Amino acid sequence: MLGICRFINKAKQSSCSENLLYFGVLLRILLKYVASRRRRPPFFALDRFLEQTAALPDKPFIVFGEETYTYADTDKKSNKIANALQSQPGYEAGVTAALFMGNEPSFLFTWLALAKLGSPVALLNYNIRSKSLLHCFNCCKAKVLIAAAELKEAVEDVLPSLLEQGVTVLLLAKCCDTPGIESFSDKVEEASDAPLPRSLRSHVTLKSPAVYIYTSGTTGLPKAALVNQNRFVSALAVTSSYGVTSKDIMYVNLPLYHTAGFLVGFLGCIQIGSTIVLKRKFSASQFWDDCRKYNVTVVQYIGEVMRYLCCTPKRDNDRDHKVRLAIGNGVRAEVWREFLNRFGNIKVLEFYASTEGNVGFLNYAGKIGAVGRVHFLHQKLFPYILVKYDTERDEPMRDANGLCIEASKGETGLLVSKITDIAPFVGYAQNEEQTEKKKLRNVLKKGDLYFNTGDLMKIDKDNFIYFQDRIGDTFRWKGENVATTEVSDILSMSDCLQEANVYGVHVPKHEGRVGMAAATVKKDAQFDGSKLYEHVVSYLPSYARPRFIRLQSAVEVTATFKQMKVKLVEQGFDPEHIQEPLYILDDCVRSYVPLTAEIYISILSGSIKL
Ligand SMILES: *[C@@H]1O[C@H](CO)[C@@H](O)[C@H](O)[C@H]1NC(C)=O
Repeated sequence: MLGICRFINKAKQSSCSENLLYFGVLLRILLKYVASRRRRPPFFALDRFLEQTAALPDKPFIVFGEETYTYADTDKKSNKIANALQSQPGYEAGVTAALFMGNEPSFLFTWLALAKLGSPVALLNYNIRSKSLLHCFNCCKAKVLIAAAELKEAVEDVLPSLLEQGVTVLLLAKCCDTPGIESFSDKVEEASDAPLPRSLRSHVTLKSPAVYIYTSGTTGLPKAALVNQNRFVSALAVTSSYGVTSKDIMYVNLPLYHTAGFLVGFLGCIQIGSTIVLKRKFSASQFWDDCRKYNVTVVQYIGEVMRYLCCTPKRDNDRDHKVRLAIGNGVRAEVWREFLNRFGNIKVLEFYASTEGNVGFLNYAGKIGAVGRVHFLHQKLFPYILVKYDTERDEPMRDANGLCIEASKGETGLLVSKITDIAPFVGYAQNEEQTEKKKLRNVLKKGDLYFNTGDLMKIDKDNFIYFQDRIGDTFRWKGENVATTEVSDILSMSDCLQEANVYGVHVPKHEGRVGMAAATVKKDAQFDGSKLYEHVVSYLPSYARPRFIRLQSAVEVTATFKQMKVKLVEQGFDPEHIQEPLYILDDCVRSYVPLTAEIYISILSGSIKL
């Protein structure tokens, strides 16, 4: 308590009222978090849902197209799924299950059902296929796969491997004639909607995994970040600070298999008791019509969403809506301004967080372009600093004593955050090596331990924090992280390419970077654009496919034998400036075709869409 009094005194001394406001918000989050952690029996996200169901049974919880499900409907639907699972051979309460489906109410019903049975859930990205799909499934040791009917073919692709491992494969369809895949919807329909006894999940603790969320790592295939129940409890505490109320209607159009959709959208609505308008996929042209139709008051975004919305043709009714708050991350200052100009007075709540990371920021002040602001209480609870980074060597700079050097105000540095009890780093499932790689030692003192976010940030003289760039071997495209080594591995498995160096290049008027590869052709082989296209399409989701390929006689490496990417990124994909053969992925002719000056100009002018 003494500590808190000291904090309050320190806050009072600060003349800035906004600082005090932020302090109040942080304190409320902290108290809420501590209080829910103390509750007995333990209180998890599911318990909050059950509490809301008891309080607001008839309130609409999920709206999807023309369907509406109240809190009580949702509860009953999930009971039916849970009861059907219980009598399903191959399933046992508590085992890990993997969910492979797009944004639809069943996704949420099934997650709630599995939570009622004490089962951790791996949230598979429904865009992934074959080798990646198997890898993602395997790294969380799931015993059951529950898939949407429309993903049957993707499941059939990996079925022999799944069956070999004794996995139970359930399809959300009324019948299925593929041996090894069981229909499940028919069983759900017949199952009872009686509540499940709490004893089924008595083994669950704050440390138990709640979900696995996949992130593209700096190297190799996607990694399963273990998100435990404690993280959910803290997410609930944070989402209650957004200023969303139970009267709000939140538009969730980001994928539920990512943190933004699941933790901020779904769990946020559970916490507050609001309504979710769930959308299968983001659509710029339907966005505002949906907001009008469903009286949406809160929307979620990522940088791309904001940009696409600003790029739609202007309409007279652009400001005719009830949206008052937008929550998300990655919007650039110029797009933010344009968004406000165009769509009216909407509060934009920009945050910074990562699925596996142990630090986050929220820009309560609404400072355009920033992700948050340094606050002493926040920094005391989650000790983080920006350290100087050597982009050439791709590692933090060190002083004579081998310690990191703090970046000065206004200078770009790598965000690292101390690993502590309240800011733990749980790591990745079945991947000790990658978990270790995200840890940084000897930062300020010999023997200390920090989480390396891999993100470059800047703090200005007013203490606002700005996201700058992501380091290492990932880039973002269409709102997804792309792991360059994963793409390299896939390319070098093709018939004609020997080695490939994959990176992302900027394209004017686009968020993120589009994939490009500098590759060498195998000895005695010929570059075959259409064969390579077929290979790429069958192994990589569309956002990860290299759009451009540049053929080189050798892959350049640095003195430290790291692939030389910085120069390649700078050189981009302009055929005028690159003498080597350049190709572009063309979906119409299903091939990689030569990238001409004419095509290049059409890309810049936006008449060719990437
Ligand atoms: C939206 O609000 C208007 C006016 O308050 C109301 O008439 C309409 O029924 C609401 N629409 C929905 C889908 O709730």
